Amino acid sequence: MAYAARITGTGSAFPERVVTNEDIVTQLAGFGVETTDQWIQERTGIRERRIADENNPAEYNSALGTAAARKALDMAGKTPADIDQIIYATCTPDTKLPSSACWLQQELGAANAWATDINAACSGFVYGVTIADQFIRSGQTKTALVVGAEVLTSINNWEDRSVCILFGDGAGAAIIEQEDPDSTHRILSSHLKSDGSLWEILHVPGGGSRMGMTPQRLIEKLHLVQMNGKEVFKAAVRTLTDFAALALEANSMSLDDLDWFIPHQANYRIIEAVAKRLSLPVEKIIINLDRFGNTSSATVPTALDEAVRAGKIKSGHTILFDVFGAGLTYGSLMLRW
Ligand code: UT7
Repeated sequence: MAYAARITGTGSAFPERVVTNEDIVTQLAGFGVETTDQWIQERTGIRERRIADENNPAEYNSALGTAAARKALDMAGKTPADIDQIIYATCTPDTKLPSSACWLQQELGAANAWATDINAACSGFVYGVTIADQFIRSGQTKTALVVGAEVLTSINNWEDRSVCILFGDGAGAAIIEQEDPDSTHRILSSHLKSDGSLWEILHVPGGGSRMGMTPQRLIEKLHLVQMNGKEVFKAAVRTLTDFAALALEANSMSLDDLDWFIPHQANYRIIEAVAKRLSLPVEKIIINLDRFGNTSSATVPTALDEAVRAGKIKSGHTILFDVFGAGLTYGSLMLRW
């Protein structure tokens, strides 16, 4: 191996507006749909989330990504000109053309980078870090910026109580740099997998080239998320458990070797079920779901950033990311801080 890759900076950004469960109770009541704060907390672990204002350019998807990227650059002691490669994981880009990566590039002034979006839904950040790791290890990239950012509420169905309670908006970013191949502070392993045959349990039917939007399709809300919650729940528990085990095995590690587990934050009961199956103590799990809901590709980098800034994650700590998302996509990534 010519080089290793290491995360040297993290950042996150959220919209200002906080929407509590009680706010959602009131909103759904307007459509004649019932829910309660207690149901949402007990069934998901979510108390509140942030929602972007589409009339505020500072809260466009790429603007949140840019704010997160600036903080990550600052932590890494790098400037925008140092970035060679921008991987922007999102399923709710600012526009179909250009990519959110290119919106961010011009806003950040990262003139030396090539930039692209990837869509692996909630697994996007881990897919993005894996791509950056490969480029860095081959010597083609020295400094990469990987962003996971979403304005998921733009595709949220506010009349569907089993969906709209879950999602929130936000952005997380990481600077990844070339590291000595013998360094212990590095990305240790990555395992990715997809199963497109399960597309139907979590998808948005309209708005793409398969089904352009018409007034009738808008009325039918075909541009919004459709989900079979129970099936997603089962697939999530299975894949998260399997891919955590795979990462431990590939690194010849046991749970005792792990300092922190950062899973995709979709539902606290999913995380709890995975922890139980793995016999992982809950104290090792980093959670931000209660305050931000499911922010898709942003959950892992925002949880990571919060834990780094709180001083929980220390040099030498071993961290496991574990994700799943629409597609289905899933995977895990082990690193030493
Ligand atoms: O990034 C991936 C994104 N998606 C996920 O990770 C979703 C994974 N799935 C889940 O998180 C859960 O399945 C949900 C939170 C979506 C639903 O929780 P559940 O415990 O699986 O509920 P359920 O679908 O089995 O529904 C139980 C009952 C139903 O009522 P009936 O048919 O028993 O009368 C639902 O209509 O709960 C009802 N229900 C609600 N009640 C109050 C569903 N949503 C709500 C709600 N408030 N918001």
